[in-house]
Amino acid sequence: MNELHPDLSRIVVSTDQIQSRVKELADQISADFVGGERLYIIGILKGAFIFLADLTRHLKVPHTVDFMALSSYGKTTTSGAVRILMDLREPIEGQHVIIVEDIVDTGHTLHYLNRVLKGRKPASLRSCVLVRKQRDNLSVPIDYLGFDIPDVWVVGYGLDFADQYRTLPYIAELKRE
Ligand code: IMP
Repeated sequence: MNELHPDLSRIVVSTDQIQSRVKELADQISADFVGGERLYIIGILKGAFIFLADLTRHLKVPHTVDFMALSSYGKTTTSGAVRILMDLREPIEGQHVIIVEDIVDTGHTLHYLNRVLKGRKPASLRSCVLVRKQRDNLSVPIDYLGFDIPDVWVVGYGLDFADQYRTLPYIAELKRE
């Protein structure tokens, strides 16, 4: 059962919904890459660490896990500028890469990552995103999407507010005050 934290107004995606959808996404990825070469899975820190841990444990195809960290939301300018704080350990040239992101809001981060990683000449580049906020002007393509959610601030399952609430097992809307 989901016990709601007092700072939160409502559950947006429940623990059960997350768990079954993450398994479905992993099955879809496994089916798409069956018999293929090793996948290179890139988790975007910090938010994607829980999603990535659950997703990769359901994968049935060989894969390597690596991480990148980008400048935090608060430091992202309105122009959408993003900065790499921590880069990959290996070159991805010729590799089949999947970016794993917790959330797409404006789409600036994923757009930036697609551009930067494409420049490193992977064999293929796809994205797997747990939740996408519904916005009118969003145009970044997502290959594997968990859920569309309303445009509210959400926390839990890796998502934070001021580095809090990341380890809640569900995704919930934060109270405004
Ligand atoms: P973007 O606007 O799509 O570039 O998203 C930038 C980053 O903002 C995401 O990777 C998250 O780390 C963060 N973010 C956006 N919306 C939320 C939210 O509702 N909760 C927690 N983090 C968020």
